[in-house]
Amino acid sequence: MKQKKTRILFVCLGNICRSPAAEGVMKRLVEREGVQEEFVIDSAGIIGYHQGELPDPRMRSHAARRGYLLIHRSRPVTSNDFLEFDWIIGMDDRNLDDLHRLAPTLEAEAKICRMTDFCRHHPEADHVPDPYYGGAAGFDLVLDLLEDGCQGLLDRLTRTGPDRG
Ligand code: 4NP
Repeated sequence: MKQKKTRILFVCLGNICRSPAAEGVMKRLVEREGVQEEFVIDSAGIIGYHQGELPDPRMRSHAARRGYLLIHRSRPVTSNDFLEFDWIIGMDDRNLDDLHRLAPTLEAEAKICRMTDFCRHHPEADHVPDPYYGGAAGFDLVLDLLEDGCQGLLDRLTRTGPDRG
């Protein structure tokens, strides 16, 4: 019998910086470990303002330097996402508050997590800071945190399977 895929949705405010980068980092990790068939990985934004756009050029160029090609098109999170995905991972307090507000059921709400909770090399980090109005260092910090958090998430999922536990 074919095993059910684990479905992960990364969420930030605009879906043009942090969450599409998380999607790109996670996709490359699962490919590197040869487990890409076991996952569906996507991203979305709280706001639809940038709908249809590629990631921010600054995010794309910083990611490209580390070998990530970001080609996701921005889209807003939908109530259906809360049914479709197993893990809904926000980047900061504001994303998490918005996701809790948008979740259609208690079961859906239980899928919401914080990206930095999976980080192991940045114990001080409690959120992935919004880089949109900042400089180059902000984009590199985003990638550092996402690489750490995505590896932590993947290790947890491949150790415990699709269930949280
Ligand atoms: P993101 O960054 O949430 O990491 O995609 C932002 C992108 C756009 C805006 C804010 C944050 N904005 O206000 O348009």
